[in-house]
Amino acid sequence: MHGYPYQDDILVSVTNRKVPVRISGRGMPLLLLHGYPLDGRMWDRVVPLLSTDHLCIVPDLRGFGRSEEEDKSFSIADLADDCHQLLNALQIRRQVVVCGLSMGGYVALQFANRYAASLACLVLTNTRANSDDHVIASNRRTMASIGLTNGVSKVVLPMLEKLFSRNTLANQPQVVELVRSMMLSTRASTIAWAQLAMAEREDLLSKLHGWNMPVVCVAGAEDSITPPDVMRQMASGFPNSAMHVVASSSHLTPIECPAEFAQIVRQATAVLE
Ligand code: MLT
Repeated sequence: MHGYPYQDDILVSVTNRKVPVRISGRGMPLLLLHGYPLDGRMWDRVVPLLSTDHLCIVPDLRGFGRSEEEDKSFSIADLADDCHQLLNALQIRRQVVVCGLSMGGYVALQFANRYAASLACLVLTNTRANSDDHVIASNRRTMASIGLTNGVSKVVLPMLEKLFSRNTLANQPQVVELVRSMMLSTRASTIAWAQLAMAEREDLLSKLHGWNMPVVCVAGAEDSITPPDVMRQMASGFPNSAMHVVASSSHLTPIECPAEFAQIVRQATAVLE
């Protein structure tokens, strides 16, 4: 869709695994955390727009993208620890902006919970701070086992249309196709581990009032998975937050509307330097 936007595409040793990371640009470090069941490529439309002001660091989280297959379960907190160790391995010594979409947002929130001192700003897009109720958690366990038994397509294809706004579906078929192929390339084991990790994630809503870093929340106007009202409620829980709703986008705002998304991030982070 774009020319390859990265200067460096490397494998970084983090404890006993190798993390595939794409790195580009210069400036305040910006860690971009992908959603489920996607990988770092989901940021390809945003990185060229943000790498003028930021060192963009784009990992494939455990089991996703070009990571090795995982043979045991992991938690959202493990993924947050991976991110912290990755920044250490990259010798990032200054505070960073952490930006996560949906599942990546769960990881970003857990990163803030554990490593607040490392954070200059938190950007949360199409995500939520509350955990799942019993019905949703149980549905996730079913999805995990359907993926393992019947194949990835049975889990991911029914999600596809919901991820996009009417405008994206009508006018950006290349974006829909990119996401479809990224989803289909995710391993069944990763689908299963990630669903179990999400089902068991900590509810962080009641902790947000104690987090003093600047927080930017970005919702898609047509997102039914993490609707603007859910994100507004989360945003109101932080002492220092701004809320944005992007028209013509659904659950994948940075992919559907990269220019609007990048502009929001740039404006929020310009005052931090
Ligand atoms: C995502 O986009 O990462 C997923 O919608 C997260 C979830 O299933 O809660």
